[in-house]
Amino acid sequence: MAGKKEQQKIKPTQEFKEQANTKDRVECQNYPQCFERYANLLDWKENWDKVLDATNPPFYKWFVGGKLNASYNCIDRHLEERKDQTAIIWEGEKGENQRIAYQDLYRKTNELAAVLRDELDIEEDEVITLHLPMLPALPITMLACARIGAPHSEVFAGFSAKAVAERMDDAKSNILITCDGYYRRGKFLNHKEKADKAVEEADIDVDKVLIWKRNDEIHPEVDLKEDRDLIVQDLLDNKKGERVEPVPRNSEDLLFLMYTSGTTGKPKGCQHRTGGYLAYVAGTSRDIHDIHPEDTYWCMADIGWITGHSYIVYGPLALGTTTVMYEGAPDYPNKGRTWEIAEKYDIDTLNTSPTAIRMFSKWGKEYPEQYDFDFKLLGTVGEPIQEEAWEWYYKNIGKRKAPVVDKWWQTETGGNLITTYPASDEMKPGAAGKPIMGIEAAVYDEEGKEIDPGEQGSIVITKPWPGMLQTIYGNDERFISEYWENYSDTESDEMEDWVYEPEDEVRLEEDGYYRFLGRKDEVMNVAGHRLGTGELEDAITEVPEVAEVAVAARKHAEKGEVPDAYVILKQDTDGSDELREKITKSVETEIGPIARPYNIFFVEDVPKTRSGKIMRRLLEDISNQEPLGDITTLKDPEVPEQIREKVRSIE
Ligand code: WTA
Repeated sequence: MAGKKEQQKIKPTQEFKEQANTKDRVECQNYPQCFERYANLLDWKENWDKVLDATNPPFYKWFVGGKLNASYNCIDRHLEERKDQTAIIWEGEKGENQRIAYQDLYRKTNELAAVLRDELDIEEDEVITLHLPMLPALPITMLACARIGAPHSEVFAGFSAKAVAERMDDAKSNILITCDGYYRRGKFLNHKEKADKAVEEADIDVDKVLIWKRNDEIHPEVDLKEDRDLIVQDLLDNKKGERVEPVPRNSEDLLFLMYTSGTTGKPKGCQHRTGGYLAYVAGTSRDIHDIHPEDTYWCMADIGWITGHSYIVYGPLALGTTTVMYEGAPDYPNKGRTWEIAEKYDIDTLNTSPTAIRMFSKWGKEYPEQYDFDFKLLGTVGEPIQEEAWEWYYKNIGKRKAPVVDKWWQTETGGNLITTYPASDEMKPGAAGKPIMGIEAAVYDEEGKEIDPGEQGSIVITKPWPGMLQTIYGNDERFISEYWENYSDTESDEMEDWVYEPEDEVRLEEDGYYRFLGRKDEVMNVAGHRLGTGELEDAITEVPEVAEVAVAARKHAEKGEVPDAYVILKQDTDGSDELREKITKSVETEIGPIARPYNIFFVEDVPKTRSGKIMRRLLEDISNQEPLGDITTLKDPEVPEQIREKVRSIE
């Protein structure tokens, strides 16, 4: 940028480089064969004949002809060398903990797989819905599903019963695995209650609900339904010592569904394949997260999101490392909890979000200073990180020694696409990095022309990669319209004519680094959680008094973004705090507490284009106290000023 001095870049240390898995940046010499480097990290029951089948874009096939099992790759193959090594460290909120050795994980996963296969008659390719919090039950259940070839669909534990029901219906999944409850800030949350409601709300007939006990005894607050509800631990008692052969899955067979928010409509089920996905997360765990089997690795995400699937469960376990999971809140019982855990388990690698980093820095360095930890590598993921937050993290947590790796990716991409190679690339606070091996990215303007360095535009990925979603479950058309239509020649069957659009705004820096600026579409990023404005609007219009609503993001110092709701009420209805309460409740019921509106404004009208489309961008400009962007397509130019008055009145 003219007038701005070149931002200083930071080199990784020699000490880090010497121990790194990948000493130098890896370039793809031979696309798509370079991805065999990742696939070779796995054990295949049958080798692939072809790396990529691109005959029917954008429905690509990876490692075609190969067969493998994800559970085998994450467990069995490690037993010979390290059966006694801890696979999973679980820390409960109250301080109790479990260390699950690879041998234990093998035993537990096999026994549960036997339950699923024999007691529930689950067949290959039957989708199983999971609604589990951060308990060891979650990775064990995922791996047991993978073992028998039943795709799992985990719904984040913080989501509402309604959200679970919708996903079960969409996936035609009639088995739900949940738990009695868990602890959050010292309080027991009755999680089973939500399962009951979900079963009631779902259109599909739910045959069985499996309930993991959090403690030795089922929590006394929890009711069981005869004939439908089964306690997992009781079923496991009859399966002691049972072994289940891992089912050889075709490389393209479905491993799991992960629902995520889109621009419009209901959440979409991103479909991830077995071979390409597992190869991609193992490869990036090795190259980018620099995971070694002897490391203790803690990714602070929730397994209910893609980050947890890829970088708590599948990637780390495929490499045979020790992965840490924590049940509770980072400030419970005090703000030093994160660093206490880091010290207790001598954690080597920490992976967290900019929201968490901003929060830690607000709490102050006196908390980390009280603990003795020594990180080798630090990760940040999920949202753009500001330079100050980056630097605070690097200095106070990394002690100016551990490289900070800023990884850009999405639920749809399966794994990291744009970042730095920790041992070789210079770090540039706030700018994630460059496309990694085999990832072909570009930045386009509105017309689909590549922009010049120094300018900003829309990031696109121009060649397929193995971690990418296969499609949206049951909706190939939506897959194309959501991700490809804008910049592709959809009539073509040449891979070159198909371009994937993540819908992120980015500035391409002079040195080729990508600086991510945020989402372009109607999706918000609230504390690293992805929420669609459309979903929120649907939840709010459930309230009978509401005629219409627009939801738009407001910038927030800690959470990055928060949702503001601009509500138009039906005639003869007045806005009140009670009504605000009702709207908030509706959002909690339809989606979950994380989606609660930050402000609710009762307005006369919302800005719309002449064709009737809500211009959320203008609402964002207003709440962020910025000048209004382009208003030439606005139907009623008075509306933004009317809204500005309302917004000002609360500030
Ligand atoms: C955003 C989370 C800036 C981005 C893995 C993307 C980021 C969305 C970064 C996907 C990053 C993710 N810097 N922005 N390092 N990582 N994002 O699907 O807008 O929950 O499109 O996947 O998060 O969110 P999702």
